[in-house]
Amino acid sequence: MNDDTEPPLPDRLRQLLSARRFEHITVFSGAGMSADSGIPTFRSGDNGLWHTHKPEHMATPEAWKRDKELVWAWYEYRRHFVMAAQPHPGHCAAARLQQALGAAIVTQNVDDLHERAGATDVLHLHGSLFTPLCAACHRPPAEPLPPPPLEVQQQQQQRLMPPTCQHCGGYIRPGVVWFGENLDEAIVNQAIECIRRSDLLLVVGTSGLVHPAASLVSVAKRNATIIEINPEPGGASGRMDFQWRVTAAVGVARIAQMLNRPLKKCSSNAPGS
Ligand code: OAD
Repeated sequence: MNDDTEPPLPDRLRQLLSARRFEHITVFSGAGMSADSGIPTFRSGDNGLWHTHKPEHMATPEAWKRDKELVWAWYEYRRHFVMAAQPHPGHCAAARLQQALGAAIVTQNVDDLHERAGATDVLHLHGSLFTPLCAACHRPPAEPLPPPPLEVQQQQQQRLMPPTCQHCGGYIRPGVVWFGENLDEAIVNQAIECIRRSDLLLVVGTSGLVHPAASLVSVAKRNATIIEINPEPGGASGRMDFQWRVTAAVGVARIAQMLNRPLKKCSSNAPGS
């Protein structure tokens, strides 16, 4: 990215970032993190996923019981869509913050764009499109799933029979956490630990509406610096030291540049599944 075309860091933000040396940084991301890669968010913009689909029809255990072919086709379409997308400079900057300064990455996102930008050990609070599992015995499929059929990729076909488990014959389901299901306790505890010890918390692209994920921000230390990156107001609530109304691609990259210059170029990896 070219410095000349980027908005300058606001003075207050620059002050906050240069006031101290940060030992523990956490990037906490939501759907807005991947919006600049073309992945629709859930609630913002005209193409928010929950504007075109009802969560109770697509993202609950009841929906799966009622119509697993509809649910499976939708998640397979989304998996395909993510595989065709690329991480943007904000994902790359978060990965560089991790590599250079040991930042933790906690995400509500089920895509793999943080990883494909080079991040590792990303804490996926809501699971992943790339970790399907058997709905009955909870084991992963023996073989990676093939790409979905063309008709599903192009949304010409809205139903697809899920594959069955080689171990027990149960149906394979998406490896995401649905409404009404519990988050993985070990992942939540690790996320709490990361946020609790952070002296800098970057809250990127989340509406802060879905709990318990959204409430994790509140475990940050009183003296932690908390910065929100979101082009829209009304996102994550609570104690923010600065709310930068900017996109993730620009905001995370600019902050990382300031904390960690010079930023090396990002090389994105192949899709994770
Ligand atoms: P939402 O769709 O609720 O909110 C997206 C946020 O991203 C909004 O605050 C937008 O203003 C912001 N945003 C939009 N474009 C952006 C950009 N280019 N850069 C930065 N921010 C941008 O998404 P989440 O808060 O992640 O859960 O939603 C939380 C959970 O609700 C999801 O993980 C999902 C959903 O239901 C499950 O499916 C269980």
